[in-house]
Amino acid sequence: MFDFSTPIDRHGTWCTQWDYVADRFGAADLLPFTISDMDFATAPCIIDAVSQRLQHGVFGYSRWKNDEFLGAIAHWFATRFNSAIDKESIVYGPSVIYMVSEMIRQWSAPGDGIVVHTPAYDAFYKAIEGNDRQIVAVPLSKTTEGWSCDMSRLEQVLAQPQNRILLLCSPHNPTGKVWTREELATMAALCEKHDVKVISDEIHMDMAWGNHRHTPWCEVARGPWSLFTSGSKSFNIPAFTGAYGLIGDETSRLGYLNTLKGRDGLSSPSVPALVAHIAAYRDGAPWLDALRAYLQDNLTYIAQELNQAFPALEWQPPESTYLAWIDLNPLGIDDRALQKALIEQQKVAIMPGYTYGEEGNGFVRLNAGCPRVKLEQGVQRLIAAIRSLS
Ligand SMILES: Cc1ncc(COP(=O)(O)O)c(C=O)c1O
Repeated sequence: MFDFSTPIDRHGTWCTQWDYVADRFGAADLLPFTISDMDFATAPCIIDAVSQRLQHGVFGYSRWKNDEFLGAIAHWFATRFNSAIDKESIVYGPSVIYMVSEMIRQWSAPGDGIVVHTPAYDAFYKAIEGNDRQIVAVPLSKTTEGWSCDMSRLEQVLAQPQNRILLLCSPHNPTGKVWTREELATMAALCEKHDVKVISDEIHMDMAWGNHRHTPWCEVARGPWSLFTSGSKSFNIPAFTGAYGLIGDETSRLGYLNTLKGRDGLSSPSVPALVAHIAAYRDGAPWLDALRAYLQDNLTYIAQELNQAFPALEWQPPESTYLAWIDLNPLGIDDRALQKALIEQQKVAIMPGYTYGEEGNGFVRLNAGCPRVKLEQGVQRLIAAIRSLS
C-alpha cells in the first residue's frame, strides 16, 4: 500500500542529512546514515491535509490550543499507548529540545546537576551545558537481556541535593532501550523520594519493536514531571518544526507558557505542523504501521549481514528506534581509524559512537530509516571498512 523502497533524491532540498553532510564529516560526497530523520516521504494523509491547508492561502498568526490539535493528541495516546491524558496539561513548542531546555531553566539554577543515562543523545549534553548546568551521568550497562540501569547507582545520584532534574530519554537514544513500566515506576518513586523533577523526552515513542511496549511517563508520574514529544520523528516531518508535551502541574505549565509567549515570542505555532499532527494522529496509523514493518526488516537485515561477516559481534536489533547502535568493541577497532576508512575509502557517513559520550567509544550509530537499497550499500561499506582494519 505504501512505497518505502523507491529512493527519493533529497539533494538540493537543503536537507541536513545529505546536503550538509560535510559539516559533520568533512566531505560532501558521502552516503549519509547520520542524524535521525528518514529518507522517506511522509504519510499521504499528511501531504493531502497540508496541501489542502496551503490552498487556503492565508497564513496569519495562529493558536495551537484548539480542539482538533489537542483531541488528535489525546486520541493518539489512547489508541497507541492505552493512555488517557489530560488535554488541559498539553503544551506546544517549536521543538522538543527547545522545550527540554526551557524546562531545565524553569526547574533548576545554574550549577545544578541534571541526571542523564549515558550514552546520551548529543543535544542533551548541549542543552545542559548551554544552560550552565552540570551533566550527571548514570551509565547504562549492556547485558545479554539488553541495556540496564543500575537503580541503586541512580538513587545515589538522585539523593544528592544539587541534582534537581532527571532528564530521561524514553525510549532511549542511542541504545534503543525501551524502559519497562516497572523500571519507570521505580525511577518515579526514587525521584519523588529525593525531590527530583522529571523531564521525559519521548520523541521515539512510536518506534518500539516486538514485545517491547512504550509507557508514557504520565502513566507512572509521581512528583513534578513533564513529557515532551512530537510526531516529527515518526512521520518524518521535522522540517515543519513543531512539538508538544504534557506538563503535570499547573504552576510549571503556566511558567513554561509565559516564557514561550513572553520572553521567546514563540507561541504562534507552525500551522503546517499542527495540520500534519492532526492528520497523522487521526489517519496516519496504517502508514506508520507499514513503515514500522519496513524498518524492522531493515534492522533484521543489518543483524544478518553484520553477524555473518563478524560472528563475534552477535548484534541484536534494538528494542526501539530506527537507529542501529552497533558495538564494535569485540573486534578491537580504533574509532578514529574506522571513521577515516568510512569517510575516505568507503564514502559513507555513519555516526561515531563517541558523539554520544565516552560510553559510546567503540560503537557506531547507523540510521536505518531509508530504502533497503541504500541501507545495503551502507552496511556493505561498513563491513568493508571494518575488514580493511582487521
Ligand atoms: C531523543 C531525541 N530528542 C529530541 C530530538 C530532536 O527533536 P527536536 O528536533 O524536536 O528538538 C531527537 C532527534 O534526533 C532525539 O533523538
